[in-house]
Amino acid sequence: MSVPSRIVLTGFSGTGKSAVAPLLAEHFGWDVVDTDRLVEEREGKPILDIFRDAGEDAFRDLESTAIADACARDNVIISAGGGAVLRTDNRQTLAQAAFVVCLEARPETILARLTSRGNTEQLDRPLLASGDPLSRITELKAARQHLYALCDWAVHTDGLTPEQVAVEVIRAHDERAAEILTTAGRVEAMTAPAAPAPTKTLHAVPEGAACMVGAASGEYPVFVGWGTLSGLGGLLRDAGIDRFAYVISDETVWHHLGDEVEASLRAAGIGFDSYTVPPGEASKTLDAASALYDWLIDHRAERGHTIVAVGGGVVTDLGGYVAATFARGIPLVHVPTSMLGQVDAAIGGKVAVNHPRAKNMIGVFQQPRFVLADAAVMRTLPEREIRSGLAEAIKMSLLDSEDHVDFLEDNADAILKLDRDATVEAVRRSVCFKAAVVSEDEFETTGRRAVLNYGHTLAHAIESTTGYSRFRHGEADGIGMMAAGRMSVAMGLLAPDVLDRQRALLERYGLPTSAVGLDRTRLLDAVALDKKVRDKKVRWVLLEGIGRPVLHDDVPDNVVASALDSVLD
Ligand SMILES: NC(=O)c1ccc[n+]([C@@H]2O[C@H](COP(=O)([O-])OP(=O)(O)OC[C@H]3O[C@@H](n4cnc5c(N)ncnc54)[C@H](O)[C@@H]3O)[C@@H](O)[C@H]2O)c1
Repeated sequence: MSVPSRIVLTGFSGTGKSAVAPLLAEHFGWDVVDTDRLVEEREGKPILDIFRDAGEDAFRDLESTAIADACARDNVIISAGGGAVLRTDNRQTLAQAAFVVCLEARPETILARLTSRGNTEQLDRPLLASGDPLSRITELKAARQHLYALCDWAVHTDGLTPEQVAVEVIRAHDERAAEILTTAGRVEAMTAPAAPAPTKTLHAVPEGAACMVGAASGEYPVFVGWGTLSGLGGLLRDAGIDRFAYVISDETVWHHLGDEVEASLRAAGIGFDSYTVPPGEASKTLDAASALYDWLIDHRAERGHTIVAVGGGVVTDLGGYVAATFARGIPLVHVPTSMLGQVDAAIGGKVAVNHPRAKNMIGVFQQPRFVLADAAVMRTLPEREIRSGLAEAIKMSLLDSEDHVDFLEDNADAILKLDRDATVEAVRRSVCFKAAVVSEDEFETTGRRAVLNYGHTLAHAIESTTGYSRFRHGEADGIGMMAAGRMSVAMGLLAPDVLDRQRALLERYGLPTSAVGLDRTRLLDAVALDKKVRDKKVRWVLLEGIGRPVLHDDVPDNVVASALDSVLD
């Protein structure tokens, strides 16, 4: 009797498919086709990039083609991606062509395997990115279990070496594979699931977290609280990224917070080393990143270790960029300590260093494993930094809702004094709004995330034409928001009284709404150079009302010019 000349290995990430497939191939004298690798080879880029550029559906289409092509070959061991069983068509193709073996493992075993191999598998990253990866694995695996169960044979791999698993698969193939060709209804049974495939659900928010960022490349909690920095070590432990921590900070922040960070890591029994850069934008360079690579190499940092960025936006951007690029990416945790860092910079995965000719020009997306925002640490932050950071909180509120704006209006005194409850709530509201936006449009491809640039186009022009020294970013943003608001009114989109309300709110927080001495011509040149210029048009974020941002690349030059005039004293 003929026996199928194909074996497919299905199962969750970390069950051992990639390790076992070559052993089987060697035994049978067959080839290995790893469907994830095949898709990557064909597309010329890693799976996460395919997810980012084209979305999960597009990846699943490519995966289906790879599975069909693999099944058209004879004498192959097919290692199928963990999500391959989600599609009915894939299960049918596999069942018709091959002896289907599911490799099983307990969530604890899976977590240990994924962590011990330094998180090398692209698609494992989102699994490990939540604050509680064990629960995430358990939940996702349970949701797919009814589909993994649709197989000819299952091998429980806990406690077995890949060689022992291979022996089990060979034995099953030798004893059972011939039967499958004559088993009536087998393909139908493996194709029709008892229950529909689950849809993606966000992991439950862990205790103490304000919200989750649910990005395609990583899902993670953002913790917002007061006096919570001491819990850093425990959170690293809970997240399973506690092998060694490389803490990056700036000298000022480390002077204030170094002892507490060190005590927390020691209490959790986590080995660590720390590195400080001088405070300020001048530290956000490729040279600074290069010095950090040297330091990491000197200390034999490896992929299972974690970078913890403790500081303002400069440190989280620099530390994040280094974490994203060192050894092709190592786990990252953000501990933002400035107002701008807490309400904005640490959320969303944009990390970058500056090019001498363009700010933030050298960057990537790298989502952290979690963000720990302790509002109490801002008690040592200079008042100007607090106000400037709050400009971003005001921006979030204008983009979000009336209720959010009301809150900032009603609690301005308390927030400016860093009153505990009001400050935590202000940070929480900003973080959760930005988390929701980023979750919808991680890589800024649909326009949803682009609305966060409200006021930024002109703000960047103001900062660059004044040498990044006269204004803090939030201050420039206040002026930029006023110009964008003015354009919105001139375009007939926004009621003038909403613009008045925006102005009053910025003034309430001591932020400038106009500036003297700016060079109008240089500002317009800088706007034209801005990276948000598309097809020679500037894409402005405008408002149709509070909570109703819109993108416009059709703002007439005279409207831009008169909006600019309105903010130049
Ligand atoms: N990645 C993003 O999405 C994003 C978003 C917005 C801004 N950014 C970036 O963030 C950077 C600006 O961030 P920033 O305003 O936090 O600047 P920063 O990191 O330079 O911090 C501002 C100052 O505050 C000090 N400081 C920070 N925390 C302190 C504390 N708790 N106590 C005392 N002093 C403290 C710092 O030492 C520094 O002198 C810019 O480079 C900007 O490009 C990034």
